[in-house]
Amino acid sequence: MTAHAHGAHGGGAHGGTAHGAHGGAPDREPAPGETPAEFWERRYGGERVWSGRVNDSLAAVVEVLDADAADPRLPRPRSLDLGCGEGGDVLWLAERGWEATGIELSPSAVERGRAAAAERGQRRARFIVADLAEWVRDPVGIDGSRAGFDLVTASFLQSPVELPRAEILRAAAARVADGGHLVVVSHAAPPPWAADHPGDFPSPEGELEMLDLDPEEWGIVVAEVRSRVVPSPDGGGAELEDTVVVLRRGA
Ligand SMILES: C[S@@+](CC[C@H](N)C(=O)[O-])C[C@H]1O[C@@H](n2cnc3c(N)ncnc32)[C@H](O)[C@@H]1O
Repeated sequence: MTAHAHGAHGGGAHGGTAHGAHGGAPDREPAPGETPAEFWERRYGGERVWSGRVNDSLAAVVEVLDADAADPRLPRPRSLDLGCGEGGDVLWLAERGWEATGIELSPSAVERGRAAAAERGQRRARFIVADLAEWVRDPVGIDGSRAGFDLVTASFLQSPVELPRAEILRAAAARVADGGHLVVVSHAAPPPWAADHPGDFPSPEGELEMLDLDPEEWGIVVAEVRSRVVPSPDGGGAELEDTVVVLRRGA
């Protein structure tokens, strides 16, 4: 089991928290003995955590994949977002024409996602409260899709509490339908304002090694570190680095 640091979000669903940026604040650290479900529910139990906007790195990738999503003559593509938080990415995908599902551990976060979808009259966004550690053991039973998904995303699926991230991401690859994509976006480094933030910051090479996918079956579309500028706690701007990995299954 690996615990990953939750460095800094900035700009996105995930970017720029709704109330400032991350960086080691005590309420963002796990309390002794706290389970992942307790920790994340506490994180989401107060005010909104993320901005509600799509993550920039995910948007840049999906914009080149989804040219057909809004074409009414074609079946709607289906996406699955793992650890979707308050659902900013799920809603963004739904609004672009995807049948978009998000799985998230915290009921409060999902409640926010559902409320935002209802407010925007968005019926293509679906949210499931579930533990991804359970989903790994029974993906179809939890996400309900026998056919797999055209897009499976995991954005900043990093946590200061226990999270079987490698198992989850390998199971994520197995849920991608033929011709579909797996997109994994993660913090490549701590934010400049919390440079000593502990935790794992995966590199593109490390992610590929961890996924260990058959090169005959999977093509690498993107495996690189991308920078984005976000508001910093002092009111200025700061550059964050994301590891972005996009893989395509089949021909
Ligand atoms: C750093 S946040 C990222 C949220 C969202 N993907 C985004 O980009 O804004 C990590 C998310 O993973 C969720 N998470 C952590 N462990 C989980 C688990 N075992 N099952 C489901 N979700 C989990 C957390 O509740 C949290 O919302």
